[in-house]
Amino acid sequence: MESDPKVMTIAVLGGTGREGSGLVLRWAQSGYRVLIGSRDQARAAQKADELNAVIGEDVIQGLDNVGAAREADLVVLSVPYAAHEDILRSVADAMQGKILVDVTVPIQPPAIRTVYVPEGKSASLEAQSLLGDGVRVVAAFHNVSSSHLPDLDHSINCDVLVCGDDADAKSEVFQLVEAIAGMRAVDAGPLANAVAVEALTPVLMYINKRYKVAGAGIRITGLE
Ligand SMILES: NC(=O)c1ccc[n+]([C@@H]2O[C@H](COP(=O)([O-])OP(=O)(O)OC[C@H]3O[C@@H](n4cnc5c(N)ncnc54)[C@H](OP(=O)(O)O)[C@@H]3O)[C@@H](O)[C@H]2O)c1
Repeated sequence: MESDPKVMTIAVLGGTGREGSGLVLRWAQSGYRVLIGSRDQARAAQKADELNAVIGEDVIQGLDNVGAAREADLVVLSVPYAAHEDILRSVADAMQGKILVDVTVPIQPPAIRTVYVPEGKSASLEAQSLLGDGVRVVAAFHNVSSSHLPDLDHSINCDVLVCGDDADAKSEVFQLVEAIAGMRAVDAGPLANAVAVEALTPVLMYINKRYKVAGAGIRITGLE
């Protein structure tokens, strides 16, 4: 069943970071209640104050990761790949029955512009395997550069490829994508296809450096 976007609470674990905080800001602006999850509750509360001041409303709250996952209807994970497994293990119980939107890109620094395929083939497939069937994992937002998110007057010229094995969960994530100005959601198939979507991000980071741009993104042609 789809949640009413006006009452749905989204937790963003890693919401103090570049990508996560930008998504928090955009969703808060479009009317969602948003929780920032962090390893440090004080850091989350400070970021929440900062972002609430930007939008002029008190709709963002800072919690620790487990508290945020427990209180949310839907959870977004936006952390460095090196922290992915540990954070998932810590919130696995709190996540049961919910949707996890995994934004994490498997990257092995310092080779951040080279595709890295992890043991489980993709971060989101690893998340699904770790969390079990009680959590519906959807992969999305990997190809949206954080550089586009903080300026609320900036419309984002990027498609968001959405992969997942549960049609209802994907359609909830479509709503989250299209709540952000300029973004278009594109159904990119089952969660297994996230291998390709996650792998596009290091390619985009290579393009950023090669062409001296800040936030290359993708558009799928031929859909109109
Ligand atoms: N930046 C982008 O443009 C972009 C675009 C698309 C996808 N992504 C992907 O999105 C994810 C987040 O990217 P980001 O650029 O937002 O990362 P980031 O700013 O470096 O980190 C995000 C947050 O992750 C948390 N974290 C938890 N464990 C950590 C650890 N061991 N080391 C460092 N931070 C840890 C931190 O929050 P607390 O300290 O508060 O716990 C941090 O604020 C990554 O997987 C990235 O590949 C990023």
